Amino acid sequence: MVKARRYVYKTAFDGEPKKTDLEIVEEELRPIKDGEFLCKAVYLSVDPYMRAYMSRYETGVTMIGGQVAEVIESKHKKYPVGRYVVGYFGWVDHVISDGKVQFSGAVTEVYLLPDFGKLPVSLGLGVLGMPGQTAYFGFLELCQPKENETVVVSGAAGAVGSLVGQIAKIKKCHVVGIAGSDEKCKWLIDEIGFDRAINYKTANFEKQLQNAAPKGVDCYFDNVGGEISSTIIKNMNYRGRISVCGSISSYNDTHNNLSKATVIQPFMIFKQLRMEGFIVHRWADRFGESTKEYLKWISEGKIKYRETVTNGFENMFEAFVGMLKGKNIGKAVVRAFPK
Ligand SMILES: NC(=O)c1ccc[n+]([C@@H]2O[C@H](COP(=O)([O-])OP(=O)(O)OC[C@H]3O[C@@H](n4cnc5c(N)ncnc54)[C@H](OP(=O)(O)O)[C@@H]3O)[C@@H](O)[C@H]2O)c1
Repeated sequence: MVKARRYVYKTAFDGEPKKTDLEIVEEELRPIKDGEFLCKAVYLSVDPYMRAYMSRYETGVTMIGGQVAEVIESKHKKYPVGRYVVGYFGWVDHVISDGKVQFSGAVTEVYLLPDFGKLPVSLGLGVLGMPGQTAYFGFLELCQPKENETVVVSGAAGAVGSLVGQIAKIKKCHVVGIAGSDEKCKWLIDEIGFDRAINYKTANFEKQLQNAAPKGVDCYFDNVGGEISSTIIKNMNYRGRISVCGSISSYNDTHNNLSKATVIQPFMIFKQLRMEGFIVHRWADRFGESTKEYLKWISEGKIKYRETVTNGFENMFEAFVGMLKGKNIGKAVVRAFPK
């Protein structure tokens, strides 16, 4: 009998998640039936949406999330033993699946990870998975960047933002990243080729932005929302484009008690800006395209990826809250069973 651990959503999040909001329970799994397979978690993802989406769930459910898992037993032809899959199984270390899994009100398919060659399977949660698709489609489709334009990215040192900035460099744009520490800003410039980077926690953000983007801002990829975004939008050029990907600065607020930020409508009107929010699943039928492009860019050295790895399934909560507070550089993942 396999023993499985899972995190139960015990108390509804109120503000910053607390360790006591979740509880690890251990259960014995039954034997698998025909048409089923047993997965063992290899890497689990911790993502900002988990904080935002849990308000849609009742307490008592398994904490939501995606993972790369190994098939360790199978009575399902499509999912043979030894293959790696990506599934929205939640925070569980072993699970029985029939290939379909409920996630955020929809049935999603467990996805067989393609062969990434020498690249680690964890990239299926990062550049070669959902965050990569988000950066690729959310930026290229909604910002439509052109050569020599100025692109500003907030949340720039994270999973999505670090890729958006590198894609903008491939498109020959002037790229300014906004991030929460000097270490992150140094990484953006020295290691992954951003032109300028601003630590939004230091003084006079607007003045620093105007120095870093002297010709104004043509495209803004927004991961954070709030006052940072209002300031960037205020500094946009005529017919600028804003892709609204995330609003992490407000995920700990309730919808009836959101923080206030400077009104942006005058800039939207007089500069004739275009702003569009999106959920990456809009482009689900094209996900293969971004994976193919990233594999090429990685092999050419044009895209670099970084991961912040936390060891141990029992440390999921620390990894999750650490990511929400900005402890990660690149994609935050948890290695379920460190050697
Ligand atoms: N629309 C979609 O389909 C879609 C898909 C994936 C992700 N997203 C969104 O994209 C954003 C980035 O996601 P990710 O997975 O790449 O996460 P991430 O950037 O790797 O991690 C979150 C980062 O947010 C920053 N942050 C936290 N609180 C902040 C605040 N109050 N103000 C500014 N920055 C803050 C932290 O970095 P600092 O140190 O810089 O503060 C932290 O490292 C999130 O808003 C997420 O919800 C949307």
